[in-house]
Amino acid sequence: MFKSRSRQKSLPKRNPCGGVENPLLEMPMHHIIAVASGKGGVGKSAVASNIAVALAKEHGLKVGLLDADIYGPSQPFMMGDESYKPPLNENKKLVPAKCHGVSLMSIGFIADPDKALIWRGPMAQSAFYQMARDVQWAPEGEKLDVLVIDLPPGTGDVQLTMIKKLKLSGAVIVSTPQDIALIDARRAVAMFERMNVPVLGIIENMSMYVCPSCGHEEHIFGHGGARAEAQKLGIEFLGDIPLSKDMREKSDQGTPIVLAESKDVLAEKVKEIVERLQKILLSAV
Ligand SMILES: Nc1ncnc2c1ncn2[C@@H]1O[C@H](COP(=O)(O)OP(=O)(O)O)[C@@H](O)[C@H]1O
Ligand SMILES: [Mg+2]
Repeated sequence: MFKSRSRQKSLPKRNPCGGVENPLLEMPMHHIIAVASGKGGVGKSAVASNIAVALAKEHGLKVGLLDADIYGPSQPFMMGDESYKPPLNENKKLVPAKCHGVSLMSIGFIADPDKALIWRGPMAQSAFYQMARDVQWAPEGEKLDVLVIDLPPGTGDVQLTMIKKLKLSGAVIVSTPQDIALIDARRAVAMFERMNVPVLGIIENMSMYVCPSCGHEEHIFGHGGARAEAQKLGIEFLGDIPLSKDMREKSDQGTPIVLAESKDVLAEKVKEIVERLQKILLSAV
């Protein structure tokens, strides 16, 4: 299922002094998956929080969520803990928040979001680096099963630092069916493939609007574009999520939709997507 990652499997390069050049960070988890999009506002953060919570609640996994969108962190809000101030443990590592059974770290907990917005280049890279490395993701000697990373949109500095520094199991691309979003999604796919990171699948978000009164389906941003694109690129299509008031309200309330009471149609749909993703991850072991 996965394409090989020759760069990461080969022996580390040595610099002239014998030291290892640009080594990957040792992270305390079995899998790291990045949730990415080419464009902002397509629901990447909403999808990332649902993936993390469903992997923890439905599949009993030990899960972390790293909000790496240093330009617009939204996970403290979407996971329902905006006031958390991470303390340092005895090893000077930040202790993540625990939200809905998921360990959460976000730049939003530690930096003034107005200042973070102007970070560029090295500052953005070092902020990401610290956020990934200097966190007590699991108790000493233990590992999380999965770390989900909610990336900023696009193919910039944070994405490149992450790909160079972390051993990713793969990336999930979120896109709306709209042409412009798909063009950007294609760029994101190309970036991961160029860097030998497997793309685990594409999710089409805001796929259609179902009128709650009459059941009429309105394809506001078009429909099926991401599925067709996935087919064209030979990438797994993980599923579509309709544009829904419930999805937005639950995110705003800090309770991802997958936490909804059983039999909620939308929650079931999102859980099925996460189940597909979880199976792909398992097949990678
Ligand atoms: N399927 C959906 N239906 C309705 N609203 C959604 C849906 N997915 C996301 N949203 C909302 O759209 C807004 C943008 O989503 P967000 O996850 O922040 O996007 P991104 O991280 O890609 O910038 C948020 O208010 C979110 O709650
Ligand atoms: Mg976001």
